[in-house]
Amino acid sequence: MHCYRFLIPFFFTANIYAAGHTYTGRIVTNTTPPLPVASATVSIANSSITAYSDSTGIFTLNPATSLRDGRSRHAQGVTGFTNGTVSFFCKKKEEVRIDLITLKGRTAGSPVHRRFAPGNHSFPLSSLVNGICSPGVYMAAVTKTGERHTAKLLVTGTSAVSTGGSHTRAIHGTDRFAAGTAADSLIVSRKGFLPVTRPLPDSSSDLGDVAITRTPEEKEIEQKVDSLLALMTLAEKAGQMVQAQINFTGSYHDRLTDEDIAVKGIGSVFNGGSDASLDGQPNTPDSWAAAIDRIQGVVLNSSSRKIPIIYAQDCVHGVAEIDGCTVFPHNIGLGCTWDTALVAEVGRITARECTGIGIRFNFWPCIASVRNERWGRAYEGFGETPEINTLLGTAYIRGLQGDGTPSKVGAIAACAKHFLGDGGTNDGINNGEMSVSETTMRAVHLPQYAASVREQIATIMPSYHSWIRDTTAWVQTLDYHSQTSILKTGLGFDGFCISDWDAIPRACGSYEAECVAQAINAGLDMAMVVGDVNCGAFIDAVTYGVENEMIPAARIDDAVRRILRIKFRFGLFDHPYSDPAFRSQINSPESRAVARECVRKSLVLLKNDDTVLPLKKEERIVVAGPWATSLGAQCGGWTISWQGSVDHTGISGQTILQGLQELGSNVTYGDDDATLANADKIVVVLGELPYAEQYGDTEVPDLSQLENAYLVEQCFNSGKPVVLVMLTGRPMLIDTELPWCKAVVAAWLPGGEGGGVADVLFGDHDFSGKLTHTWPASAQQIPINTGPVYPDEQQGSGGEPLYPYGYGLTYQ
Ligand code: BGC
Ligand code: BGC
Repeated sequence: MHCYRFLIPFFFTANIYAAGHTYTGRIVTNTTPPLPVASATVSIANSSITAYSDSTGIFTLNPATSLRDGRSRHAQGVTGFTNGTVSFFCKKKEEVRIDLITLKGRTAGSPVHRRFAPGNHSFPLSSLVNGICSPGVYMAAVTKTGERHTAKLLVTGTSAVSTGGSHTRAIHGTDRFAAGTAADSLIVSRKGFLPVTRPLPDSSSDLGDVAITRTPEEKEIEQKVDSLLALMTLAEKAGQMVQAQINFTGSYHDRLTDEDIAVKGIGSVFNGGSDASLDGQPNTPDSWAAAIDRIQGVVLNSSSRKIPIIYAQDCVHGVAEIDGCTVFPHNIGLGCTWDTALVAEVGRITARECTGIGIRFNFWPCIASVRNERWGRAYEGFGETPEINTLLGTAYIRGLQGDGTPSKVGAIAACAKHFLGDGGTNDGINNGEMSVSETTMRAVHLPQYAASVREQIATIMPSYHSWIRDTTAWVQTLDYHSQTSILKTGLGFDGFCISDWDAIPRACGSYEAECVAQAINAGLDMAMVVGDVNCGAFIDAVTYGVENEMIPAARIDDAVRRILRIKFRFGLFDHPYSDPAFRSQINSPESRAVARECVRKSLVLLKNDDTVLPLKKEERIVVAGPWATSLGAQCGGWTISWQGSVDHTGISGQTILQGLQELGSNVTYGDDDATLANADKIVVVLGELPYAEQYGDTEVPDLSQLENAYLVEQCFNSGKPVVLVMLTGRPMLIDTELPWCKAVVAAWLPGGEGGGVADVLFGDHDFSGKLTHTWPASAQQIPINTGPVYPDEQQGSGGEPLYPYGYGLTYQ
């Protein structure tokens, strides 16, 4: 059996407290080829830690294996959180306290508090958290000589699962800590495989091969895939590799016909962001379900192999392209909740609404580490670090994909995108070029994909942008190194790579065989294709490519095997049609309540002078600004249409004004001088116009450049206290407006439930949102990110940010 040599995994290392002993061994999957093993958990007396072995099977576990660096801004005298330790320097004899603080601002514990001699001191993280905090998100603060350095260490964890009586804790991203000293067993796991437990002997030893085998369900799926594949012709295989755009009218491309779908044996059908109203049918769950079921019927009744299609859409904040579904905040807002359970629930509700309509493949989540505020897709990622995208990206994926049981009715295939490094392009240009080293790429943009693979993500979308290596600009659609070396053989991804919208011709010029071969040989498994002629061209190119030895037949088998594996795994063969029971629950009061909770928890309070907030219910509140009355504005892009619009109808929900009026007894709307003069307090709601993709790229994200920004000054001139609620897809420069406002709230793009804003402004709930972006104080600072920032990443200049990563005030 082939096995890999061990190198310390580049982004995850772990601290093992196995009673001081060293254990070595080799983890193998009994598959051909062997897959990298996603995680090995060492279970310890009272707790456990997780060591990842993403690219190799060989492990060494010993107490010297270091913890991964935490993220820290290096406060003066605090050298940071590196190698699993917090270290600081005392010039003289000094009193030092280390606190662990919850996101609500409460101190979970103060593990260190005493006087230290001059010199360097350090503490292992494990010793700090031991017995003090349960999995969660914490900040570590070091207070020295009365000065408080809140290090940007975010200790994050996920919910606990129990294994064999000992408590197993999966820990993400920034921290690895163990809360015990006596080791008892090694647990090796990979989703889809049966976990293996090996007791750890009392002394250092070589544990030899630890083999894991597929679960019976997965074994059965592999057998079904093999039997089906054996029957298929090359043309049928090529058909499975096509994802064809639904196009009811053929208004801007040739129409997709039943013939394409059935005769060509198309594998998947999708619609883009602007296809919702193309056919003149009502844009409702019922009519979409009918259209998708009709296509499925054609496939199952008249195609030769009767392999169900998997229907795809961008349901990026709920099924927001279709009228009347639950619309959640965009990812940037969900990021600020830091709440894995809540984000998983967003995934579950979205998956059920999709299943109700027949959508079984969501081009979501975007897990970009958004490194530049200029990027028009900034709001699609959870934040600027790999940690936040790992934490919430995996939660979202779990929710969409049935919490680890993808065959469950109501689970759908997720798609992590856009691979690799979409959020790090030079100057934040959408689909632009990026020129970072592989070390930086792996550190900043890859960890969330590794974590997604551990969650058994079904699909991954290579990006339109190019990664420049050795002076060659590698469009990700055609990049063997990223799709195959890094993702498939490196991380062991066993789902399929789906191209972006017509990405093959975009990258290479056409659907001719040379181009198609380049993409497929790079690792692409399914092509998102616009237009009937192009679908035919792709299939012909695959057939020609194989027959003329431009594409190995084995590569086609591998691609189709991956596609069929996902269709079996997600139960498409058993439940191919839309589910009316889930359809009837779309936008239920329970789902809306979850969306409202997301809104409440996503809001970040940036400023609150003179406790102008919370508003009192009986105060005379004047609400100004057109965004207070626009569901379209609060939902942003990817809502009803690709770019979104302030004028959209069909969105279910409540505007921010309606929310405020529901809770307050004296809330009026207007911005004329007389109305403003009559207020106790003014709430002005404004922000960006909706946008998506490149249309959102901007040179200077500055609030004062926006059409409505003059209103802030107008409100200020009334002499009444002003509360600014910003609806934006990214941090924006607010230096002009800040002095005019007593309070400032970043509300992001909250989606349908404006009432969530009212809940918090009136103080029925406290603020809990914390920034997942560093907020720039000036244009020169952009791009600005929390550390570590790598030397080859673009970086602005000019001092401290306006608000650091992790910032957010509360009422308490
Ligand atoms: C976007 C993708 C999206 C696809 C389908 C592309 O332009 O980059 O994120 O999934 O369109 O709408
Ligand atoms: C579609 C989007 C797609 C874009 C690509 C639009 O017309 O609606 O989904 O991402 O085109 O250019």
